[in-house]
Amino acid sequence: MQPVALVRDVPDSFVDALVMGKRPTIDLARARRQHDVYRELLALRGYEVRVLPADERYPDCPFVEDVAVVLGPAAVATRPGASQRRGEVAMVAAALASLLPLRHIEAPGTLDGGDVLRLGGTLYVGRSSRTNDAGIAQLTRIAANCGLAVTPVPVRGVLHLKSAVAHIDEETLLLAPQCVDPRLFAEFRVIEKAGGEEHVASVLRLGTGELVMTSSAPRTLQRIRDHGWDPTLIDSSEFQAADGGLTCLSVLVERGS
Ligand code: GLY
Repeated sequence: MQPVALVRDVPDSFVDALVMGKRPTIDLARARRQHDVYRELLALRGYEVRVLPADERYPDCPFVEDVAVVLGPAAVATRPGASQRRGEVAMVAAALASLLPLRHIEAPGTLDGGDVLRLGGTLYVGRSSRTNDAGIAQLTRIAANCGLAVTPVPVRGVLHLKSAVAHIDEETLLLAPQCVDPRLFAEFRVIEKAGGEEHVASVLRLGTGELVMTSSAPRTLQRIRDHGWDPTLIDSSEFQAADGGLTCLSVLVERGS
């Protein structure tokens, strides 16, 4: 069955997206061109790309990953840690509910999908400024019904766990050791992000195993190439400016592949 990629259009209000540091200048036209390239790439790689309409009330709405987590046989509609983002959930949840049984994170729990990294049978879940212990506890119960364990991971200096750790292959991670303790990932081979590229080096691993990487982290790219991978590069500078990585821009439903 064809895998599905849910993405969401970029609103004019994206220039006001939440950011951890100083407000950047975001080039809206460039962001939209980058978003087009991203979804064209997913379509070329075999995904049925379902584009949800932007909502001007929610500047961060293109970051669909944060509002939903796919666990294989089920999906979870999250309750984002930033209250301004909670209105983004309903549309993505409705789109997912047509594909998978849907569970929900409820108050007082908060969970951002950017904090959930699935590696084999384990969900590593960032305990970040956006994801709290109640959210992790709820996800742990839902995940157990899907045969998955949960390991919490303290995160520092970046927005989400997946800002710091990326899945390269079954044995290998790309990781920023300043942001997460590498000892929590001791069974994996770790490629460290190059100094200064922690916030821009971002990798999306497709269901086929192909890697897609931001073009703005040349020294980290060289490290990945030195280990034998040759990622497809795309420019996502305007989304990086809003603290978003490549995984943030889609929810992938691999449909049993
Ligand atoms: N701009 C991404 C977020 O703050 O959720």
